[in-house]
Amino acid sequence: MKKVITYGTFDLIHYGHINLLKHAKQLGDYLIVACSTDEFNLNAKDKKAYFSYEQRKSLLESVRYVDLVIPENSWEQKINDIHEFKIDVFVIGDDWAGQFDYLRNEGCEVIYLPRTPEISTTQIKSDLNRNKKK
Ligand code: CTP
Repeated sequence: MKKVITYGTFDLIHYGHINLLKHAKQLGDYLIVACSTDEFNLNAKDKKAYFSYEQRKSLLESVRYVDLVIPENSWEQKINDIHEFKIDVFVIGDDWAGQFDYLRNEGCEVIYLPRTPEISTTQIKSDLNRNKKK
């Protein structure tokens, strides 16, 4: 069984996320999503998700392409995850291109998928905010 892993916040799940998850699943048989915890978002990424970790986890678990959701608590956990879950493919959007090439040393493929244009959680939040003020 070919195992794939991806990482992210996945707040206010949108079609860009779904495209990423669908393509990630097509690269193997079993897809694990490491979903950033609220603490990790605040402390390491300096962002506050609209939905809590438990809500984002539950939404991700409802997506047909996702087999397992685990917490992302640190930048460093990737190497450990790759060995613990016997990962074959690490995949992430190309906004991170080049940044995780070092994981190839752990024996897994590293693939950067093209981002879906013109959609992001930040964009949704700012569009809704702008409309509210009209
Ligand atoms: N992603 C994508 N296409 C988009 C938006 C996100 O392929 N239009 C991918 C990212 O590259 C990443 C994953 O989805 O691999 C999770 O991204 P995340 O940062 O949670 O989503 P964004 O919408 O980019 O959120 P933000 O605006 O807060 O950065």
